[in-house]
Amino acid sequence: MVSYKELGLVNTREMFKGAIKGQYAIPAYNFNNMEQIQAIITACVETQSPVILQVSSGARKYANQVLLRYMGQGAVEMMKSMAAEKGLKEIPIALHLDHGDTFELAKSCIETGFSSVMIDGSHHSFADNIALTKKVVEFAHQHDVTVEGELGVLAGIEDEVSSEKSHYTQPEEVVEFVSKTGVDSLAISIGTSHGANKFKPEQCTKNADGIFIPPELRFDILEEIEKKIPGFPIVLHGASSVPIEAVKIINANGGALKDSVGIPEEQIRKAAKSAVCKVNIDSDGRLWMTAAIRKTFAEKPAEFDPRKYLGPARDALVTMYKQKNQNVLGSAGKA
Ligand code: G3H
Ligand code: 13P
Ligand code: ZN
Repeated sequence: MVSYKELGLVNTREMFKGAIKGQYAIPAYNFNNMEQIQAIITACVETQSPVILQVSSGARKYANQVLLRYMGQGAVEMMKSMAAEKGLKEIPIALHLDHGDTFELAKSCIETGFSSVMIDGSHHSFADNIALTKKVVEFAHQHDVTVEGELGVLAGIEDEVSSEKSHYTQPEEVVEFVSKTGVDSLAISIGTSHGANKFKPEQCTKNADGIFIPPELRFDILEEIEKKIPGFPIVLHGASSVPIEAVKIINANGGALKDSVGIPEEQIRKAAKSAVCKVNIDSDGRLWMTAAIRKTFAEKPAEFDPRKYLGPARDALVTMYKQKNQNVLGSAGKA
């Protein structure tokens, strides 16, 4: 058993207390490789933001679960040396399992030094979701690891589990779920979804520039939930904004993304000021990384040193994460 505390990681409890009180949200950024983790840490140290590093089970398979875990844990050392070099404060870092789907997976992460886990039982019946989540909470809390549960289903792909249709969280279920499971935070479904195609074109209106404008998130459901469980930390998945600038660069350099629509950043900013205190962003990073790599390949077709195209991709990520912390989530300066 490796305790995350020995590694300098923190669980999410204090982070969420600060976020609720200060009306901001903690960024939860997914990573699968070295450049992504370097960019996340650089941006969060430079903006002095707490951060949750997220690992999906797909990421564990892709990057080798042992190597990926060591990268997440090594991020603390990188953060410390970077902060000292720049004369800045150290920032709190949590290492979190994103969309864990079994007790065994959550247990394995906890035993190898994760400080926080999500158990996503949202595809099960309400009773089975409670039973699975409770089992994970009981084990996690023995090790002071925090647990995120989910009620309601997001459309799109949730780490190998995909759902055509979303089912909004039912506010009347949240009190029973939270009290029976003992979870530390709750992911809800209010209209976001995973990936770069969050809405169908026919669900959107078009502005004068031909840009798709999606329907508003269901802030009414969020408010209802807040009334039922006041001050309880809420998590928003599927919160990428799918920036049109990145999509344009991709498509101008050989890409073929179609009908890409995300959540406007103003709506994420509004959510971050509410009980939403963790915001999950993955797709925006994938888009900016792809845009930078495609641009380099198009402009320098003779280039074959990975550092020459992964370096600009990493720079683009740093810019994006800083922007999110400063202008969208409000987490900058809260370390
Ligand atoms: O929830 C989805 C995250 O973006 C992780 O995606 O399962 O493809 O790693 P992934
Ligand atoms: P996006 O696909 O909108 O970035 O959502 C990521 C996410 O929710 C990870 O759990
Ligand atoms: Zn998610």
